[in-house]
Amino acid sequence: MIHQGATIWLTGLSGSGKSTIANMLAGRLRESGAKVEVLDGDVIRTNLSRGLGFSKEDRDINIRRIGFVCGLLSRNGVIAIAAAISPYAQVRREVRATTTNFVEVFTDCEFEKLVARDVKGLYKKALAGEIKNFTGVSDPYETPEHADVRIDSGTQTPEESTDTVWNYLAEAGLIRS
Ligand code: ADX
Repeated sequence: MIHQGATIWLTGLSGSGKSTIANMLAGRLRESGAKVEVLDGDVIRTNLSRGLGFSKEDRDINIRRIGFVCGLLSRNGVIAIAAAISPYAQVRREVRATTTNFVEVFTDCEFEKLVARDVKGLYKKALAGEIKNFTGVSDPYETPEHADVRIDSGTQTPEESTDTVWNYLAEAGLIRS
C-alpha cells in the first residue's frame, strides 16, 4: 500500500471517541505498512505541554505545539494523527495551513450521551461546578463548519467510525493499494 504523509486531526468534546478512533486507525494504517504517530492531548499534556492549563491561551499553545509536531512528521511522509479537543476554530485553521494533507475529523456526539457515558467521570464533576472551564459545560467548543469527515460517535461503533475515516483517506488518494 502507498501512503502519503498527512495530518489527521480529530477534534471533538471530551469522551467523544477521539483517542479510541485515533488508535484504531493508527493500528490499521501500521498494518498496511504506513509510518504513523498518534499525538493525544491527554498524553501530550504530560510531556510536551506539561504545566499548561485550560484557559484559551493555554489551549491555543497546546494545539500549536501539537500542530507543529504534526507539521514536521507529515511533511516527512509520516501519518500524524492528533486527538485533542481543539475547541477554537482559528487555531485549527492555522494548523490546517501549516501541515501537509490536513484532514479535519469532527467526532460529534450528542451531549446527553457524553454525560450519560461519562467515561472519565469528568462531566459529573464539571456539571457540579467542581471543574471550572470544562469544554461543552462551562467553556466553549466551536463546532467545525467545514470538517472533511464528520463522525457521529453517539450512534456509530469505533470500527464504523474508523472505516469512515479510512474511506475518506482512500478517496482523497492519501492511501492507495
Ligand atoms: S485542548 O482543549 O487543549 O485541546 P486536550 O485535548 O489537550 O484539550 O485535553 C483535554 C483533556 O483534558 C480532557 O479529555 C480531559 O481528560 C482533561 N481536562 C481536564 N480539565 C479539562 C477542562 N477544563 N476542559 C476540558 N478537558 C479537561
